[in-house]
Order: sequence, then structure tokens, then C-alpha cells
Amino acid sequence: VAIRREDYTAPAWWIDTVELTFDLDPSKTRVLNRMRLRRNPDQPTGALRLDGEELNLARVLVDGQGASFRMEAGQLVIDNLPEAFELEIFTTCCPVKNTKLMGLFVSQDTFFTQCEAEGFRRITYFLDRPDVMANYTVTLRADKTAYPVLLSNGNLVDSGDLPDGRHFAQWVDPFRKPSYLFALVAGKLVAREQRIRARNGKEHLLQVFVRAGDLDKTEHAMTSLIHSVLWDEARFGLPLDLDRFMIVATSDFNMGAMENKGLNIFNTKYVLANQATATDADYSNIESVVGHEYFHNWSGDRVTCRDWFQLSLKEGLTVFRDQEFSMDLCADASARAVKRIEDVRVLRTAQFPEDAGPMAHPVRPDSYFEISNFYTVTIYEKGAEVVRMMQTLVGRKGFERGITLYFERHDGQAVTCDDFAQAIADANPDSELARLLPQFKRWYAQSGSPRLLAHGSYDAEARSYTLAFEQSCPPTPGQSHKEPFVIPVNVGLLSEDGRELPLQLEGEGQATAGTRTLVLTEASQRFVFTGLDAAPVPSILRGFSAPVVLDFAYTDAQLLTLLANDIDPFNRWEAGQRLALRSAIQAITDSAPVGNAVLDDAYIAAMRSVLGDTKLDAAFKELVLTLPSETYIAEQLDVVDPQRVHTVREAMRLQLATALFAEWEQAYDANQDTGAYTPDPLSAGRRALAGMALVHLCLAACASGDAVWPGRTLQRFKDAGNMTDRFNALNALVSSGHALAAPALARFHAIFKDEALVIDKWFSLQAGAPDRGGNVLPLVKQLMKHPDFSLKNPNRARSVIFSYCSANPGAFHRTDAAGYVFWSDRVIELDALNPQVAARLARGLDRWNKLAEPYRSAAREAIMRIAAKPDLSKDTREVVTRALAG
Ligand code: ARG
Ligand code: ZN
Repeated sequence: VAIRREDYTAPAWWIDTVELTFDLDPSKTRVLNRMRLRRNPDQPTGALRLDGEELNLARVLVDGQGASFRMEAGQLVIDNLPEAFELEIFTTCCPVKNTKLMGLFVSQDTFFTQCEAEGFRRITYFLDRPDVMANYTVTLRADKTAYPVLLSNGNLVDSGDLPDGRHFAQWVDPFRKPSYLFALVAGKLVAREQRIRARNGKEHLLQVFVRAGDLDKTEHAMTSLIHSVLWDEARFGLPLDLDRFMIVATSDFNMGAMENKGLNIFNTKYVLANQATATDADYSNIESVVGHEYFHNWSGDRVTCRDWFQLSLKEGLTVFRDQEFSMDLCADASARAVKRIEDVRVLRTAQFPEDAGPMAHPVRPDSYFEISNFYTVTIYEKGAEVVRMMQTLVGRKGFERGITLYFERHDGQAVTCDDFAQAIADANPDSELARLLPQFKRWYAQSGSPRLLAHGSYDAEARSYTLAFEQSCPPTPGQSHKEPFVIPVNVGLLSEDGRELPLQLEGEGQATAGTRTLVLTEASQRFVFTGLDAAPVPSILRGFSAPVVLDFAYTDAQLLTLLANDIDPFNRWEAGQRLALRSAIQAITDSAPVGNAVLDDAYIAAMRSVLGDTKLDAAFKELVLTLPSETYIAEQLDVVDPQRVHTVREAMRLQLATALFAEWEQAYDANQDTGAYTPDPLSAGRRALAGMALVHLCLAACASGDAVWPGRTLQRFKDAGNMTDRFNALNALVSSGHALAAPALARFHAIFKDEALVIDKWFSLQAGAPDRGGNVLPLVKQLMKHPDFSLKNPNRARSVIFSYCSANPGAFHRTDAAGYVFWSDRVIELDALNPQVAARLARGLDRWNKLAEPYRSAAREAIMRIAAKPDLSKDTREVVTRALAG
């Protein structure tokens, strides 16, 4: 049955305190749960219904007496309870058999928990919903040799030895919290520790716990954590509220990381890094995720969600906060813009397709079957864009005031997205946000990416330029009609030779220099700019000021002007993307075979000058030179032939490789590291551009039969001083299909056989390699037989199966449907082990309805094959049901 937002009611009972005692044992852990409950006076009298899943119930005591209870739809139901009472529940569970990785599980002989969203019910019977907040006292007991470290939320208040080689630790969390923020960890771990003094003089202990061999990979996570603590205090006045803040890494984890109060649990992928094993991208992800989880301490933990429909309240806000954090750590405006472009690229390649497909849902959904399916790019990334638009509408200072008011008002509460938006508006009563709040909140309610059609006309006589906008939003599941959104559109005007023009809006006094925010509220609206001697080139949606699809009939000449001159780096990049996309679509939809000149001379010349421009940072050049992805190109088409898209994009890559050969050589030589390795954005950008140059040099060499660059690449692979350079060299050999790739891959495996995260890269690179005559699928099947492969480890499963099925469209979509058959087999296989990971994989054919034949029918058949299985998890069932309905 679907859970619906409109059905929300407050709980009939409150839980004030919880005392948990664990006797940890991998095959039979005993959990004693003593709670103080009281009736919620605002709700009608009713039975107590506690959630529980895969638990063995041994005993239920009410105020110390045996009580009668019944099981109903998986819930433990108790009637005839007093107003307030103590409830004691004793259960056991089996962590070692927990392959779902929800609740209490064992990974490499260590106990971990994952409770968000509904995992706590797999540990004990509880009101497992975020609006029930309690004070927790946790006692952990375990064998001292096997589990020397015993951790839970809050402060360690007691510890000591027990008979039979066992020991215990007791933890008290000073803050009330919902059950999804509970955590425990027990095992053989070591910690990097750092004491820091906050602004108010208080001392805090920061700890990063890992397995013994990994301590040399924790420095960056610790540095990121320290930066996070300082940043949240400096930017938003939000201090660390705990004496001790712990991060623990596990190699078996469904997601990236989890913000349990004071005890964040992380996927090793987002903790462990040293220069020999981690790439610049890993370093940057670690910084973001450490920041993200730390910022949840306020946006999520101190103020949490009333119900799971409000998930974006904490996730959208916290993604926005981690994006701002990474930007504020940048040394200059160029690096900030690079970060913004990267974030927008994620939104457009992952969230826009979601919003256009069968799983489309509002930032605040109206219903779900399985909440785990709603940890989506819409909730996270689009949610962050909604918060960003609020900041745009009230200004940076105004937004900080709004955040302050939000936490003043709601500290210690479980609230809604309405409460958040209201606080930001109330702190800025004269803002456009306050004036338009009810309409602005349509961003929470309406799904689908809005289309913004813009049209410009110049009136020489009046010396005026009119920008006319029309907004619309395509229908999405359950929503056929949409009301207009509030869309902040940042606009600038350029002269034809690329100078920034002053903006004089008709009817306004002063002209302004630079960007203006036009606030759209109507289905169609126009703005007249005066005092213009010639038709300007409009730069619209600067910085991607709203998550919309902008449609403007730019001429190639106008795009070239923007690419060469716009003061807004985002729109400079965007102009290049539009030009490349235009050529790609032309070649794809053309009936002629794909030639080798997809890109025109003007584009090539523009890329040549970008590469040679000494004023531009390498990171920015790398973004501009990166062609739109196959996924992004496919989204622009009504009917998609993935093979044709792949062929065209490969032709474009090769064209850039050969036409700019001399420039790539120059870029490679000019962007070599000089000093010691540092992962800062500037040096990372240089390595990225050098790596991109190598890919193109190897591509061109493979086409021409030249051996020099592949040889140099192999040499670089062998003596690189860091993983970024080494991996980029390996990637250049693999992705150009050069014969030297095979020995390099073998050598890479031999060097890093004991580094799980590096072996993930090794698998992923091969499963994601460009297809050559259908070679990737047989390779993927072979990789699954490799002794290092395991379906049970989510990172490993993702590195092979997802890299092929979800990140390699040119190899996955085969005319013989073998890719789809492989996919459906893996979904079914995974579903029996780990429904969350399976359901994620099941999203892989969301866009089947857009495919050309024979792909479309074959894809549909593969989805139906999964749907035909009678005992699918709720997770996977929901995904395939929606896919077939859409
Ligand atoms: N709250 C976590 C984060 O965004 C993610 C937890 C996801 N858990 C899940 N079961 N889907 O940092
Ligand atoms: Zn989060």
C-alpha cells in the first residue's frame, strides 16, 4: 500500500527515554530495550503499535509485569495501556546474516548500524518515525579481544571489564533524537584524533576511526572535518555542540555516508585517501561528504524532519550547504565557477532525466511505497537548487539571517519544508521571496523540469531590446497540469563584440552594471531594456540561477561571442555545450552515416583558443573541452538510438583529438606538476587537463598508428607520483582501445591488489570503457568471475554492474538485447541480497520509453521479466511498477 503525505497524523504515543543494552554477537545479538512512554494528549486514545522487522521477540514487560500483546501486519500491538509507563522489550537478531545492510550488520568482523530511514526497527521494536524524539542511553557489551572499540552516540560515561574476557561501554547522548539517528560501532578500529578549540573556547575531540592498515589515509578526512567545523561557525554561526565528534569508515555501505548524531558512519570511499591510492576527484568528494554529514548535525539532527515526505528539508538544505562549503574553500572566483558547473552537470545529467521519467516526483513527494527509493537526485540536488533560489531571492546576508531564524525557531523539533521556507521569508519580510512565498513553494509541490522559452527582439528606432519569456512544465506522473513557478533569471547583455553592457530596464531610474535578477511569476512575461545602440547578445540564466531548461534560439555567432567573452563563467561554458550539442543532434538525426566532421571549423577554432588561452584556469578549460555526455545528449532527443548517440560522440572526440593534436601536446606539457602533490582545485585542474590531453593524444595516435604518445602514456602510468596521474594514464590507454591497455591493467591490479577502493576503480574502468564491436559485455561477465568480485559488497557491485548498466550506454544498449538480459538477471539476483542496491540498479531502464526500436521493446521485456518475479522486495517492486506505468 502507498504511504500518502496527506495521511500524516502525529503519533498516539511519545517515547521520552530509551535505554538500550546490547550483547553483541555476530550470529545472535541480544537487545534489551527499556523505554519510558506516555500518551500524546493531542491524539485520540489508541493502541501502541511498534514497528519491528526480522526480530526474534523474547519478552515484553509493561511496568515490570508480563503484558499481553499481539502481532498485526508486522507490528507489535499492545492495548489497554496506562497514560505513562515503562516498556521493556527483549529481542535478538542476526547481524551476520544481514545482507541488506540496514539495521545492525557485520562488515569485516566489525558491527555497524544504518538506521535511516527505517532500519532501527530491525534492531528493536520502536515507533520508528522521525517525529518521535527521545533521549538515548546505550550500553554495549562484547568480547574485548574481538571488539576492543565500542562506540555509540554522544558521550562515553562508563566503561570497564566484564567476566569471560568481555567488556562494556556506556554512552549517553545529551540530545533528543529520532531513531534514524541512532548508531553503534564495535570492532577492531584505530583512530586519528585531533583536538580543536571552537570560537567560544570550548574544546572538542574529533576522531576518524578506520581499520589498522588505513590510518595513513585519514589525514584528508580529518582536515575536511576541521574545515567543516570552522566553516559552519563562520558562515552560519552554527557551532559544534558535542564534546566528541566521530567518523567511522566501513567498506560495506549502501550509500555514501550517514549523519548519526556525533557518530557519522561512512563508506570508506568517502574517508580514505592518500596520494598513492586516491584521485583528485576522490579528495574532492571526501571534502564534500565529510562536510555534508557534519552540516547535518544542525540541518537534520538539531532540527529534523516531521515525516519522510519532508526529506528534502534536511537533504536539499544540506547539499546546498556542502556545495557552498566547497565553493567557499576555493581560492578564487574561477574555482568557484568550476564547482558550480560540476554541480549543474550532475543536476542536468541525472536529475533532469529523473524529472522527465516514470519516477518523477516533487521535491516534497505526495506518496511512496518504499521511502528508500526516494533518496534521489530530485530530493537532494533539485532540493538544493530550491534552497539556492531562496538565497538568490533574499541575498547572501538575508539567507544567513533566515538560517539563524530557522534554527532559533525550530531547534529540537521535527518540522516541515513549509517551516523552513517560512523562516527564510520571515527573516526577509521585504524580499521577493516573502512577497511570493505561496507561489514559490510550488517548487516543492510540482514535479518536472520547467521549460523556459526566451525570445529577444531589438527595436532600432526605440533603441530597445525586449526579452520575452514563456514558462511551461511538461506533465509528469500524477500531475497533468502545472501552475507557473517563481523563476529567478539572472541576465546580462553583451555587445556583439563581447563587452558587458549596462542594463536599463524600461520604467526604472538608474541603469545597473552587470547581472540582474529578473523574477518571473507568470506563464509569459516580457522585459524591455533601453538605451541600446545595437542588438545585444543576451546572457540568460547566469550561474544557472534556476533549475530550468532554457530554450533560446541563439545563432552560432552569438554562442561564440558568449563562449569567448561572457563575464559569467557558467554561461561561457554553457555556450560551448550548446554549440557541441547542436552539432551532435544534427549528426544524430541526419539520415546519412556518421562522418568524421561532426563539429564545424568555428567550434574547433573556438576550442583551440580556449585551450591556448593563458588567462583561463586549466580546470575551466577541461570542463569546456568536455563534450556533453551521451546521457545528456539522449535527453534532448525524442527518440533515442543509443548506438547512434555513442557513434556520434566518439566521432566528435576523435575529431577534437586530431584537429587539436598540437594543442593537446602543448596542454599536456604545460600542465605537469612541479612541486609536491596537493589536491587543491588549482593543481587538480591542471592534472585533469593533462589527463584529458593524454586521452586525446592516445585517441589520435590509435587512429594514425603513431606509437609515441601511447608509449609516453605507458611510461607516465609506470612512474606517476600520484593516483590521479597514474589513473588518467591508464584511462587514456583503456579508453583509446590501445593494445598497451592490457599489460597496464594487469600491472595496476598487481600493485593495488590489497587496496579495495583502487580495485573498485580497476573494475569500473573496464566495465565503463567505450564499446568496440560489443566487447564490453563479455568482459563484464568475465569480471564477475574474477576472484576479487563480490555481489554482496555494494561498492564492488557498483564498480562492475552499475559502471556497465548505468554509466556506459554505448555498451549497454545492444541490438541483441543481451545487455538488458544481463541487467534483469543482476537486479533479480541482487534483490534477494540487498533490495536498496537492487532497486537503484532497477532504475537503469527508467527511460526505456524514449528508446528507438529494437531497444524499446527489448527493454520493456526486460523490465517485465523482473516484474514477473513474485517475491520482489517493496523497493524493486515500486521501481519496476512505475517504469512500466510511465
Ligand atoms: N542521510 C544520509 C545522507 O544523505 C543518507 C542516508 C540514506 N539512507 C538510506 N537508507 N537510503 O547523508
Ligand atoms: Zn544527507
